Amino acid sequence: MIRNAQYLRLGVNIDHVATVRNARGGDNPDPLRAAQLAIEAGADGITAHLREDRRHISDTDIERLIEQISLPLNLEMAATTEMQKIALRHKPHAVCLVPEKREERTTEGGLNVVSEEKRLAQFIAPLCTAGCRVSLFIAAQSDQIEAAKRVGAQVIELHSGAYCDAYAEGRHEDYDRELEAIQVMAKFAQELGLEVHAGHGLTYDTVMAIAEIPEVVELNIGHFLIGEAIFNGLKPAIAEMRRRMNAARP
Ligand code: PXP
Repeated sequence: MIRNAQYLRLGVNIDHVATVRNARGGDNPDPLRAAQLAIEAGADGITAHLREDRRHISDTDIERLIEQISLPLNLEMAATTEMQKIALRHKPHAVCLVPEKREERTTEGGLNVVSEEKRLAQFIAPLCTAGCRVSLFIAAQSDQIEAAKRVGAQVIELHSGAYCDAYAEGRHEDYDRELEAIQVMAKFAQELGLEVHAGHGLTYDTVMAIAEIPEVVELNIGHFLIGEAIFNGLKPAIAEMRRRMNAARP
């Protein structure tokens, strides 16, 4: 069922290296070192989420990543004035806009583009002018995808969290429904001219079905890889994810 599948890029999200560092303060473990190892292990890009509360990645981390990594940086951030200024100062390769709630443990849902169209269009325009590829992290819903196109995003990242949760909890019907939504909406978005990425919650068990979707050209994966790194080391953990992605997308 391969439909014009392109190379599938792996963006490694290094936020949780910073989470471990921040648990103690100080400099270790260093997210920049993790990014360099990820590159050696076959990552195609590095993703980092500068949250408003700076709970993991810091402003200095972003500066060091921009200055010192050889691969594109995908800066995840909320659509706030403060973050826009930071993005315009650093001009990362990509900016992925995500919803942010202070009390959440991780990014829980997708961005509601429909309800904020005008504001997001104004927010995105200067980022595009500065040369950043702007991506919106959204649920696999046609109204959100159409709105993403209208506000000028070049990329959407489909939220795979509900699909991964359904797998982890053994909810088979929900799993099938969520996977189908991502499959159908990836095709729909590509037909509208949007580049399609996916991410959130992906593991060795859940990555292959998503990697098989030909319209998806990038996966952003973090928490599971950093967890695996505790047992197997970061480079082998990433290399195994890359192997599974390649097996699903020959
Ligand atoms: N993509 C986006 C937009 C995210 O916000 C996150 C989490 O920061 C990820 C991908 C990676 O998710 P996970 O850490 O669960 O692999």
